[in-house]
Amino acid sequence: MTDPRSAAWDTYSQAKPQRRQTNAKGETTWFNWTQYADHGPGAELLALRPGASVLDLGCGSGGNLAHLATLGMKPVGIDLSARQLGKARDRWSDVGGLELHQADALAYLRDTSTIFDAIYSVFGAVWFTDPRLLVPLAHAGLQPGGVFAFSQRPPVKGCYGCQASYVPRGADEDPAIVKRWDYEPDIWSALLEEYGFAEVTATVLPAPEHDKRTVGTLLVRAVRGDQAQPCSAM
Ligand SMILES: C[S@@+](CC[C@H](N)C(=O)[O-])C[C@H]1O[C@@H](n2cnc3c(N)ncnc32)[C@H](O)[C@@H]1O
Repeated sequence: MTDPRSAAWDTYSQAKPQRRQTNAKGETTWFNWTQYADHGPGAELLALRPGASVLDLGCGSGGNLAHLATLGMKPVGIDLSARQLGKARDRWSDVGGLELHQADALAYLRDTSTIFDAIYSVFGAVWFTDPRLLVPLAHAGLQPGGVFAFSQRPPVKGCYGCQASYVPRGADEDPAIVKRWDYEPDIWSALLEEYGFAEVTATVLPAPEHDKRTVGTLLVRAVRGDQAQPCSAM
């Protein structure tokens, strides 16, 4: 049976334009954690060396993966949406070394035998998956010292836990609905520490100063400690 979330994300993909050809610095690839152009930190947050393996959960059309490939990493992107992955293949056909799979984040993390040097998600599957299921799998899928990082919109004050995201469809159709999980930074920190992550930082990066939009970006980063988690925490 087709996952209804895939159809919802295919619809989203149709309305979403491809990434610009170049950024403000004239670069053809770059890493963007936020919903604003030319804003926020870059790939350095992942603390990777050339040759490192890195997994993008909900990679969409693959702009961040392409940048990591040009830096010499071994990037793997997974996404529920065939249309999003098609856009990634079209746009980055000249960038070698991208590995893309159509998969659900939980299923992929459960099934893969690869242990990654970093796992990240930009407004991606981490936002749209129950963190009590995903965080222990991300921990198990990382090398000791590996970075787990993700970004998403911060919660609306008072709206916490599982929320409904509406994806517009045709004018005479109901929107598609996907679930997402919203928490304040201190709740994310506690959750990540509970599942064995260390050096956790969770902050809201303010919107760019001169933008009319004011919503910041929740940015969470944590490091897998040396210890594997006991099965009871899974
Ligand atoms: C808002 S888009 C962000 C895409 C991309 N990370 C970016 O920055 O442009 C969310 C992406 O997450 C994917 N996604 C959502 N839930 C997922 C899941 N459970 N497993 C894999 N991918 C998922 C969607 O298909 C979609 O491409």
